[in-house]
Amino acid sequence: MQQVIRILLLLIISLVYTGCGNGNGEERETAAARDEAAELTEFELEHGIGPVTERLDIGDLDVERARRGADIFDRRCTACHRMGRRFVGPPVGDVTEERSPEFIINFILNPEEMTNRHPVGQELLQEYMTIMPYQNVTKEQAIEIVDFLRYYAETGEDLRD
Ligand code: HEC
Repeated sequence: MQQVIRILLLLIISLVYTGCGNGNGEERETAAARDEAAELTEFELEHGIGPVTERLDIGDLDVERARRGADIFDRRCTACHRMGRRFVGPPVGDVTEERSPEFIINFILNPEEMTNRHPVGQELLQEYMTIMPYQNVTKEQAIEIVDFLRYYAETGEDLRD
């Protein structure tokens, strides 16, 4: 008889435990992240949240554009970014190999929304604990910065030197 009671008790305890396991904080968080991501379009997930809402076709690397980008990067971005190591923000020396030009341009032009609403931005925010501020850069200048970064990724040469 005692044996039966013990087994019943064990059964009840394990049922209570699995019951608590459902809907724990972690699962709710992932569900929230999924909902948030679900509100973004396919384009936004891949290329970031506007102003840029379609592929730009910025063409091949243009060295003159890259030189102008180097100058803007030097003035507006070096407070927080290094090419090959983390600083206030993530390293950007190989960001063009990981993200599309449109994604990078949207990040430069719309950093607050990219950080608050895009899953990549949210992940970066958790790691760097700073929201990148908009640096008063135009779309043309953002394209120039992309070329500066592409030039660095392809040649290893930093046009600011
Ligand atoms: C005040 C600091 C600060 C400045 C200035 C700044 N950034 Fe950022 N940047 C960050 C932080 C922090 C992140 C990580 C995302 C976040 O938390 O907002 C980031 C993220 C990025 C990303 C996304 C990287 C990835 O892996 O996708 C790019 C691209 C970027 N910055 C480019 C630039 C450029 C170009 C400039 C200059 C026009 C600039 N940033 C100026 C702090 C800064």
